[in-house]
Amino acid sequence: MSPDHHFPTTRLRRLRYNPAVRRLVQETALDPGKLILPLFVRAGEGVRQEIASMPGNFQLSPDLLGDEVREAADLGLGGIILFGIPAKKDATGSDSTNDEGIIQQAIRAAKEAAPDMLVTSDVCFCEYTDHGHCGVLNDKTGRLDVDNDATLELLGLQALSHARAGADLVAPSGMMDGMVGAIRAALDGGGFSHLPIMSYAAKYSSAFYGPFRDAADCAPGQGDRRGYQMDPACGAGQALREVELDLAEGADLIMVKPALAYLDIIRDVRERFPGVPLAAYNVSGEFSMVKAAAAAGWLDEQAVAREMLTAIHRAGAGIIVTYWAKQVAGWLS
Ligand code: PBG
Repeated sequence: MSPDHHFPTTRLRRLRYNPAVRRLVQETALDPGKLILPLFVRAGEGVRQEIASMPGNFQLSPDLLGDEVREAADLGLGGIILFGIPAKKDATGSDSTNDEGIIQQAIRAAKEAAPDMLVTSDVCFCEYTDHGHCGVLNDKTGRLDVDNDATLELLGLQALSHARAGADLVAPSGMMDGMVGAIRAALDGGGFSHLPIMSYAAKYSSAFYGPFRDAADCAPGQGDRRGYQMDPACGAGQALREVELDLAEGADLIMVKPALAYLDIIRDVRERFPGVPLAAYNVSGEFSMVKAAAAAGWLDEQAVAREMLTAIHRAGAGIIVTYWAKQVAGWLS
């Protein structure tokens, strides 16, 4: 670089003295319309139970979901993503494939309350199985683990049932090989070839999901999810293969999860697949640790949340799933 480009000719603080200049040169802005709010729906009536580890988030029964969804719509949020907690769990998660199941009731209630609101459904079995794993189990590999191919067929049935209930977008999160293809085929066969799939393509086996497992009552009874979710110590190469395969199978939008400890993955996916809508899931643990620190007076919740979400956006995620979605809309208004 020539000496002209050195101090004192160049002073980067000139871009920082005046707040109007600072604002002008910002490159990343949060937009409530690009945020998706997760909501937990449980069987029952009149239920609005706060999730202890996720202050400000509730398990709601379908009759109380409508108000929450209308509020999200009035705030201009981009969408909601629904998780169901059935009255009864079983080995195959049968509530999730039943047209009268909890998630189907929730989808219908949400669409009725706010027809223009984007309603996404999480397509997975862990909330619906009594063992808490993301599919049906067997031990044919020598270990008790999720049976990949047997689960694919059930995933197709589940997604199709969500589609019939009125979901606008289905989001498979179980990390089964071939899940996007199986769901695409089931949707196409059932008259839903127009319905998009947002795949949790690069989903890591993460301790940051801790509070979610309280929220959805879905901690695995035995073992963990390392037999299907990605190892945090694997690099972006494997994440890119996951994304590539899901796109080949028909995924329309791609998600990386969790977000904050995986900004490198978000960036690499963004660069390698610039034309694909990319979401990141700012997961429960990322939310709860800030809430806890803020409650102790150690952090400023709003400032930290905005900084985290800005970082996720700056890394390359155009869409962010976050428990702060409603608050962000308030902060920005
Ligand atoms: C699986 C699912 C999980 C989350 C979203 N979908 C849990 C898991 O994989 O164990 C976690 C979300 C969060 O932590 O906020 N259906």
